[in-house]
Amino acid sequence: MTLKPYVLTEKQFLPQREATYPMEERGLQFGDGVYEVARIYQGKYFLLQEHIDRLYRSAEAIRLAVPFEKEELIDKLEQLREMNDVKEDAIVYLQVTRGSFPRAHAFPVENRPNLYAYIREMPRKLREIENGVRAILTRDVRWEYCYIKSLNLLPNVLAKQEATERGAFEAIFHRDGKITEGSSSNIFLVKGGKVYTHPATERILNGITRTKVKQFCDSLHIPFIEEAFSIEDIARADEMFLTSTTSSIIPIIQVEEQLIAGGKPGEVTRKLQAAYEEAAGLAVKNENA
Ligand code: PDD
Repeated sequence: MTLKPYVLTEKQFLPQREATYPMEERGLQFGDGVYEVARIYQGKYFLLQEHIDRLYRSAEAIRLAVPFEKEELIDKLEQLREMNDVKEDAIVYLQVTRGSFPRAHAFPVENRPNLYAYIREMPRKLREIENGVRAILTRDVRWEYCYIKSLNLLPNVLAKQEATERGAFEAIFHRDGKITEGSSSNIFLVKGGKVYTHPATERILNGITRTKVKQFCDSLHIPFIEEAFSIEDIARADEMFLTSTTSSIIPIIQVEEQLIAGGKPGEVTRKLQAAYEEAAGLAVKNENA
């Protein structure tokens, strides 16, 4: 997965090698910043406006001023894509921190945020999308700021590492017996033709893909119920799936030792995947149809 040669900073476009930070940087030392990951499919941004809107909401929640107006930032990201001649499937990573200052917990007096954005090639996870994945369960030890896409990802990193070491794709967080979300995804359960997921409270990140799935459910007349389901409900699930910008919609076919729907992706998941592909302009066109 190649990193593209140019990056965007708060000041200018730079060749990747020239974009460096001093040791005393608040994102590095305190995780004092917010970020976004947006998809690029076949060289075009997908849902960029939604990601930028969330970035500004996250920034506002931590009292951080993004150093561009929204429209300006979107224009710059378009420019970044053009400069890097992106034609394939990729992601853009963008972060804003409270800047480079001598280390001190309280905010610096001066408002001088750091921003950088870069593009990395990232093919779709076609094997997982088609066959589904395994997940493990892990205790959600996180805080009440999960709705902010902040740089403080240590519990998520540890959970994903646990999943990886146990040969699973994702770690599903549970708190007080209820499923909250995945270490880097939102989690859904299908039962009796209805889709259940944790409500968008301060305990989860309200995914851009999650919001899309809600819209797809509405147009497909599939009830979308924002009600947390429990660990016990998993044994009785008809289907499960996860969503994220990098993964799109991936069936979950096993949680710990429990097979979901006999270990096969289900019908509702397939319908939502088809709706996603259509929305992202990925639907395979049958020339003879
Ligand atoms: N993560 N929940 C968490 C904790 C996440 O980190 C993510 C995404 C999601 C899904 O959100 P969205 O559909 O907007 O991508 C939910 C990104 C992809 C990441 O950190 O790489």
